[in-house]
Amino acid sequence: MNAVLSRPPAAERPLVDAAFLADPYPAYRALREAGPIHWSEEFFGGAWLLTRHADVEGVLRDARFSAQRTGGWVNQAAAERGELAGFQQLFARALLFLDAPDHGRLRALLQPAFRPEALARLKPEIARIADELIDGLDDADEFDFIAQVARPLPVRVISTILGISGADRAEVMAWSDDLAAFIGAPEPTHEQARRAQASLLAMTRYFQAQISAKREAPDDSLLSSLLQARERGEIQGEAELLAQCAMLLFAGHETTRNLLGNGLFALLSHPDQWALLQQDSSLVPGAVRELLRYDSPVQYTGRRVTTDLMLHGQRLRRGDLVLALIGAANRDPARHERPEELDITRADPGALSFGSGVHVCLGAALTRLEAEVVFGRLLARWPHLQLASTEPRWCANPAYRGLAALPLRHA
Ligand code: HEM
Repeated sequence: MNAVLSRPPAAERPLVDAAFLADPYPAYRALREAGPIHWSEEFFGGAWLLTRHADVEGVLRDARFSAQRTGGWVNQAAAERGELAGFQQLFARALLFLDAPDHGRLRALLQPAFRPEALARLKPEIARIADELIDGLDDADEFDFIAQVARPLPVRVISTILGISGADRAEVMAWSDDLAAFIGAPEPTHEQARRAQASLLAMTRYFQAQISAKREAPDDSLLSSLLQARERGEIQGEAELLAQCAMLLFAGHETTRNLLGNGLFALLSHPDQWALLQQDSSLVPGAVRELLRYDSPVQYTGRRVTTDLMLHGQRLRRGDLVLALIGAANRDPARHERPEELDITRADPGALSFGSGVHVCLGAALTRLEAEVVFGRLLARWPHLQLASTEPRWCANPAYRGLAALPLRHA
């Protein structure tokens, strides 16, 4: 009760509406200018919103803010007690939602597959996949970049890393979409939670079959190495193993797609920036970093407060949820000069798109590599690439910002 009394009144207008989904940046700016911290009842029954770069980074690097936050989230969406227990059991075990020491133990097991040497070995395969997808579009007058390239490429890449087959089937992609709809909903409905549970369980059955195949024929894939870790007792139980597999597949599906889509849309909407890349392809890696800042595929993440504390004059209570608005932090004028401008030549965009601290994105270098390969190929193959529609259709997901379709012409 005290916690409620200590909170400022909830915002009068909802933050997330159709205009926000199309372009969240004016709302972030208004929020940031109104003050550093806000209480909103719109997210998960109530959460603190942080908009400044320094605060978002600070919370993500501070152990008083725990990554363990799925319990309330899942249970709130359940119609009856225990209905979503299967979901919660798996969901809560994913690296993303763990604190020390479990977090460090599991991260160390996953990390080798994402190290620079491993990525250097993978690069020719990423280029091969990109070429195959792009070659198939040579004769098309108009095509949807999301459906034809941005969606299939990341799933093929993560399948190669994990050493799994069939993850690019429509059914498997739909499981990921159901999880993204649940994770990205400010207030998940009962139906969204039930679908997410069914899809997560289907995904684990799919992985159980892949695991059986790997037991028969071990190889040098990440899944084989995780299986060996399970046999050595470094992964505790099958549920812990399955949770990491599902998380990696989900991350592989959802986020890179949106970097490719949002990034290409931003470049083609700023022809001067596209022209700069054409003149000098060595600008591509810097451009990818700036595109991540300019329109981040992950717009926010959450933490639970583990101890009562004061922040910007507000009393935060143990158990409160804090949302770190990455999308807002990336446009904070206190950190970024001309934050609303896309400038691919920025010396150091310094964005928080991959988070910060111990949970900083494990796939950051991988996803940047994928984007560098794809944008590099597009520039070389189709210098006259253009938007076929100037009216983008954004997905209704405030956390995972991405385009539902991106129609293009290359003639
Ligand atoms: C544009 C693409 C991507 C973006 C913007 C992104 C963003 C993020 C962010 C913001 C976090 C931290 C979340 C938090 O602290 O609560 C994170 C964590 C993570 N990401 Fe990514 N991600 C991307 C791609 C990928 C890919 C391709 C993979 C793997 C295949 C991946 C795997 C992970 C994992 C495993 C974590 C959890 C790390 C931990 O908890 O230690 N991500 N990502």
